[in-house]
Amino acid sequence: MKELIVAIDGPSGVGKSTLSKLLSLDLGYINLDTGAMYRAVALASLRQGIDSKDHAALKQLCEKIVIEFVRGEKEERVLLNGEDVSAQIRTPEISLLTASVAACPEVRQAMVERQRVLGADGGVVLEGRDIGTVVFPNADVKFFLKASSEVRGQRRFLELQTKGADVDLARTISEVQVRDIADTSRTNSPLRQADDAIVIDTTDLNIAQVLERMFTVIDEYRQS
Ligand code: DC
Repeated sequence: MKELIVAIDGPSGVGKSTLSKLLSLDLGYINLDTGAMYRAVALASLRQGIDSKDHAALKQLCEKIVIEFVRGEKEERVLLNGEDVSAQIRTPEISLLTASVAACPEVRQAMVERQRVLGADGGVVLEGRDIGTVVFPNADVKFFLKASSEVRGQRRFLELQTKGADVDLARTISEVQVRDIADTSRTNSPLRQADDAIVIDTTDLNIAQVLERMFTVIDEYRQS
């Protein structure tokens, strides 16, 4: 059977990571969390004291750093220059910084190149903001997930709370909204639905229901 390129795009907190993991596991595909790559760049820039507006320094940084995904005991781990930074890249501080770093055209170009290499042979589920529009405009199946910012903020809040973080619901919702504005208003590859993407509104759906819809779409694509 042909190994497909599956793109999952959408705003933060919409369920992309969970769905991408489950979908790739079931299909036996590689799961590529492209947001984690931008997060790793943001963490590296913070550690090196690089301003998110200093595009030349960010470009140099991208040329130097090694970002890897390795299978951990429970979950996939993200390595930055060999160090496991899976937890450090998920803090609210890094989330906000990542939105600025990801707006830098040089950073985007460097990451998109890496993503194209990693996904070129198919058998991959990529999740992000610009997969179906920029990284793989010819992806076999494209999903665009959406949900209200309140519901997405609430999901993020519960996720962080479960991990023991000291979080505030109203602040988490407003952080989601701030990131939405940054993601959709940037000039370079803004978050945008591809014309040929299948849109799934996850506001009133649970993970199993969304996954079922996705499998139906993939089966239909294979039979077409
Ligand atoms: O999916 P996430 O929350 O881990 O993404 C982190 C940030 O990176 C978010 O602000 C959007 C940005 N991003 C992007 O610009 N392009 C991608 N393909 C993936 C993420």
